[in-house]
Amino acid sequence: MSDRAWWQDGVIYQIYPRSFMDSDGDGVGDLEGIRQRLDYLAWLGVDAVWLSPCFPSPMADFGYDVADYCDIDPLFGTLADFDALVADAHARNLRVILDWVPNHTSNEHTWFVESRSDRASAKRDWYVWRDAAADGGPPNNWQSTFGGPAWTWDEATGQYYLHSFLAEQPDLDWSNPEVRSAMHDVLRFWLDRGVDGFRIDVVHKIGKDPELRDNPVLRGPDGENLGQEHLHEEGHPSAHEYLREVRDVFDSYPERMTVGEVFLLEPERIARYYGRGDELHLAFNFPFLFAPWSARAFGEKVEAFEDALPPEAWPDVVLSNHDVSRHASRYDDAALGDQRERLAALMLLTLRGTPFLYYGEEIGMRDVPVAAEQMLDPVGLNLHPSLGRDPERSPMQWAPGLNAGFTQGKPWLPVAADADTRNVAIEREDPASTLTLYRELLALRRSTPALHRGAYRRLPSHTDILAYERSVEGSRALVALNMGEEARRPALPSARVARGLRTRHGVEMPTDAAHLELAACEGAVLVLD
Ligand code: NOJ
Repeated sequence: MSDRAWWQDGVIYQIYPRSFMDSDGDGVGDLEGIRQRLDYLAWLGVDAVWLSPCFPSPMADFGYDVADYCDIDPLFGTLADFDALVADAHARNLRVILDWVPNHTSNEHTWFVESRSDRASAKRDWYVWRDAAADGGPPNNWQSTFGGPAWTWDEATGQYYLHSFLAEQPDLDWSNPEVRSAMHDVLRFWLDRGVDGFRIDVVHKIGKDPELRDNPVLRGPDGENLGQEHLHEEGHPSAHEYLREVRDVFDSYPERMTVGEVFLLEPERIARYYGRGDELHLAFNFPFLFAPWSARAFGEKVEAFEDALPPEAWPDVVLSNHDVSRHASRYDDAALGDQRERLAALMLLTLRGTPFLYYGEEIGMRDVPVAAEQMLDPVGLNLHPSLGRDPERSPMQWAPGLNAGFTQGKPWLPVAADADTRNVAIEREDPASTLTLYRELLALRRSTPALHRGAYRRLPSHTDILAYERSVEGSRALVALNMGEEARRPALPSARVARGLRTRHGVEMPTDAAHLELAACEGAVLVLD
């Protein structure tokens, strides 16, 4: 019996359902489209897919505003399509992870419709309703992450309701045991259907100051307003109590997992959400995702997260998702962009922790610019066009030709201009492609215990190079990543190399690790004899 769980050894692939594969020509991806591409995912060599929300939703936030937690939006298909998807995924040894949004519902959820209908409604206290402040304004100074006050006035019942995001996303009141129990039932509904886990949306926000006190305002040296310290609207200790209850639900099923979006940038604060092995199984390492392109920065982020985690906790590695610019774009560079993208892949798939891939990164997809008049994302529309998240949500590039093979209709977001050359069909056949590199890395990771479960130890090297050893009984690998613009020798310890991969295609492996030389922005993983 292994003491390891599948989600520790495995690699998780995030699908943004609207953008992966459209089977019915309406220009928006769907579950049947995903099902048709399961062979591709199995061929690629990932272990699980995480689907961003596909539940009924008015789509004010493209599914992160859920109107019914226990159904599938007709845009994506039906519950029967979902069951078929799970069955076919499981038949290929692929697990399925759903996205659970506990902090808020859609304003069209029947719970909220009922809550807002009357102050005396039985669901009134499922949400956070408060009287106006003495001046008629909002009850406190909390701000919505998507701009403006976190409170909206309800004329009919004469109170404000709280929303950490859009006004169409009212916050549930997790201090209410009825809410918690209803949300546990939601989890059971899907776990009973065979779902293998959940990604949990902004989970640190379910704990809020019960007194709803104002956040402290941060001031600059001249007294200027620098925004707020997020002290009271998230991260209250009660979040941990609620998460322990959630964990009990998961622990009553075998082999299920949670990964929390704890959108914080201090490792120590993120680590608290692992609890004592009784809260989240994984919490996203977002400080790593926001690191600048530098060996020193990546090394520091990896080690700060490792140091912060309780000893039994398992880390994760992520560089892209549906909320941030794709890393191939973030780290792009006129001369070395393609090499950086390959180096990032090697880092992601050889560090200690569960890697999360974002659809299309395996073919090197970049952000696709969206003109102001085509913008759909509320963040871009409300806050600032440059913050809009449409560019990282563009349609998957499957093949040359019409809409990159994503849809027969009009795609909901524009397809990349380079889709005729950057796509799955072409890259599959090309031994030098990024797709081939990802597939080979995934295979090497799977067949090398040191890479999927080994300990991490940093090795001394040049400041431009992140070098580390991964090792577990009987398996040892060395990794060197040259993030700089000059060729370098990483000076790895002498050891016989059995096999490995380097990001420069067609260049031989040294027989002794000590002889490894790396071109600018080249990386290598050496599995030792
Ligand atoms: C985080 C999700 O990843 C993001 O897409 C969403 O807009 C917010 N939470 C609100 O649910």
